[in-house]
Amino acid sequence: MSTDWQTLRWIGGPAGHLMLLDQTRLPVACQEVACQDVESLREAIVSLRVRGAPAIGIAAAYGIVLGLQTAVGGDEPAFFARLEQVCQRLLSSRPTAVNLAWAVDRMRLRAGSLRGQCPPTELHAALWAEARAIHEEDRQICRAIGGHGATLLRDGMGVLTHCNAGGLATSEYGTALAVIYAAHAEGKHLRVFADETRPLLQGARLTAWELQQHGIDTTVICDSAAAHVMRAGLVQAVITGADRIAANGDTANKIGTYGLAQLARAHRCPFYVAAPCSTFDLDAPTGAAIPIECRDAREVTHGFGLQTAPEGIRVYNPAFDVTPAELITAFITQHGIVTPVDAPHIAALLTREC
Ligand code: MRU
Repeated sequence: MSTDWQTLRWIGGPAGHLMLLDQTRLPVACQEVACQDVESLREAIVSLRVRGAPAIGIAAAYGIVLGLQTAVGGDEPAFFARLEQVCQRLLSSRPTAVNLAWAVDRMRLRAGSLRGQCPPTELHAALWAEARAIHEEDRQICRAIGGHGATLLRDGMGVLTHCNAGGLATSEYGTALAVIYAAHAEGKHLRVFADETRPLLQGARLTAWELQQHGIDTTVICDSAAAHVMRAGLVQAVITGADRIAANGDTANKIGTYGLAQLARAHRCPFYVAAPCSTFDLDAPTGAAIPIECRDAREVTHGFGLQTAPEGIRVYNPAFDVTPAELITAFITQHGIVTPVDAPHIAALLTREC
């Protein structure tokens, strides 16, 4: 399966730049935006030109390469001081998806492993290679998630998904949508229901766009229609992605996911979460430790340029919620299906080479 667009692509060598598919323009325009420095990349993450947990991890890794381009001519202490400054800028962009912090840590570790051994130009080239490796590994991880997850789906099933956990949220192929793509490639016909995903409509704008391009039978529903659709027996599985999974399995994902998991339980429908190992955070014992990003009120009151609530009204706009582990039937990871969802099974998963 291939598409004629790429979520992220690096142009050139270590002194090159990053091109992002500008997701704020989809589905109306399929346009790229160039990021030539760390500030333009940070802006792209904050404004969701690039979004989705694995994709912002990859973007952050490249952001470090961009941020250090000005430091290759200096000495090693200045290089490491700049590295720390760039890392902090990127870490402050979005708090919930742990893949961003995971990628930053991995880049820091790589730099640290070479400290005192080579000049800044070589350090920088090694960090560029590390970012490329993170990007490439994600492609393979998504394929593996798809392959494992497809075993859970049967021909003729209705599948509901929320937000966008597809190729647009990763290097390509996706996590939750990878499962759908892989099942489709095996010849299974699925009917996918894509929650539109208020307030920024990642489901309607992005998931529906991707699925349509791949010839998947797709129906967009308002978020509030999910209960009705489940009660009508149209959905036999719910699959979402994740932004951060705590050590006990509590899972942060796009706002509305928790409600869907409750609905799935009420309708005896399996609720699956597809995610790479980099989305697990053993430093968060439970979901209570996961920081939840709150976004601008205007996303709710003035979405896409149309005022839909009175001027000055109070708004609460959390971008994510936490689904308790007990509502999750299984995790779908690059190493296979993890069930039951609990701390011992997660610990066993993460002791593998992730
Ligand atoms: O605010 P977003 O669009 O970055 O939120 C994205 C999600 O919630 C996705 O479901 C999650 O990052 C998993 S992407 C594979």
